[in-house]
Amino acid sequence: MDSLAFKKKRLIIRQPDDWHLHLRDGDILKSVISPTARVFHRAVVMPNLVPPISTIQQALAYRERILEAVPEGISFSPLMTAYLSDKTSPKILEEGFTKGVFFAAKLYPQNATTNSSLGVSDITKINSVLETMEIIGLPLLIHGEVTNSDVDVFDREAVFIEQHLEPLLNKFPKLKVVLEHITTETAVQYVESKYPALAATITPHHLHLNRNAMFINGFRSDFYCLPIVKREKHRVALRSAATSGKPCFFLGTDSAPHLRADKQSSCGCAGIFNALNAIESYAQVFDEEGALDKLEAFSSEFGPKYYGLPLNEQKITLIKSPHKVPSKFILQSNQIESEYIVPFHSGETLSWRVSETERF
Ligand code: DOR
Ligand code: ZN
Repeated sequence: MDSLAFKKKRLIIRQPDDWHLHLRDGDILKSVISPTARVFHRAVVMPNLVPPISTIQQALAYRERILEAVPEGISFSPLMTAYLSDKTSPKILEEGFTKGVFFAAKLYPQNATTNSSLGVSDITKINSVLETMEIIGLPLLIHGEVTNSDVDVFDREAVFIEQHLEPLLNKFPKLKVVLEHITTETAVQYVESKYPALAATITPHHLHLNRNAMFINGFRSDFYCLPIVKREKHRVALRSAATSGKPCFFLGTDSAPHLRADKQSSCGCAGIFNALNAIESYAQVFDEEGALDKLEAFSSEFGPKYYGLPLNEQKITLIKSPHKVPSKFILQSNQIESEYIVPFHSGETLSWRVSETERF
């Protein structure tokens, strides 16, 4: 094999971070932490547990449980977030931030998604919280969807941007805001126009799927997530944003594990567990788009730069070597056969994999 061909099959990048991740708790946490920590050095951990992570003590205890679950010999830093509600006290946020416990605060519009019933019912109710966050420099992470029943589920993000995000950015121009898991061309254009006040994360599943995926030969709850996947033109816009080399777009998997039985029920949960193959899934997209040279910046540079954190020193190696994704992710503690999670790309063949040995 000549050296050029050899080079094309290996890609060495700075170790990435995941700027949006659900780890859950208990048995699920103990199982899902390994695939993330084997690749990512840091992750912004979402607070939508039951009960939500809203106090300093809860965040510290949750961080401990996460660190205990990390396999030995792996260096992984969970970055904790506070769950905002109508009752959040600016003082607690400030104290948690000053003590280095809260990395950011998460705004879930009430009932927008999994475990958001205690979220914010009206953004104007948390004005004093946002004012404090702007002053102290605590970033605001937003699940950007309205929940009004008269707004079509596919329009929720665009309506949120127009009715809530634009006024919020005007009111708090120095607040650091990340619009999480963007799904539309509208969001792409809006974020580009507002950077550096605003940045956005993009998930692997929104880069791979359009809304047809949910309805191939029947209803496919494995592809149900929120914000819901959209029309093809939006997927195309997201792929070009992610691979554009623009620093306002960076990696955030939104990996959201749910047990099979919870996804396939009369009221199935939203969320896609992509942590098993996250960087491989992104690599596939960047490869298909002829933009592998942009993968490192998206995965490992734009996030830390936006948040003012150092870049990771370590490198990981991706190897182009087709491998089949298992159909099930069985929990370590599994006693009952039905307790498994279906990973993203279940049963598919992905073309890139992370080398377990080539780290330096
Ligand atoms: O699909 C999703 N799942 N979207 C979210 O916003 C939350 C997440 C979860 O926690 O399951
Ligand atoms: Zn999420």
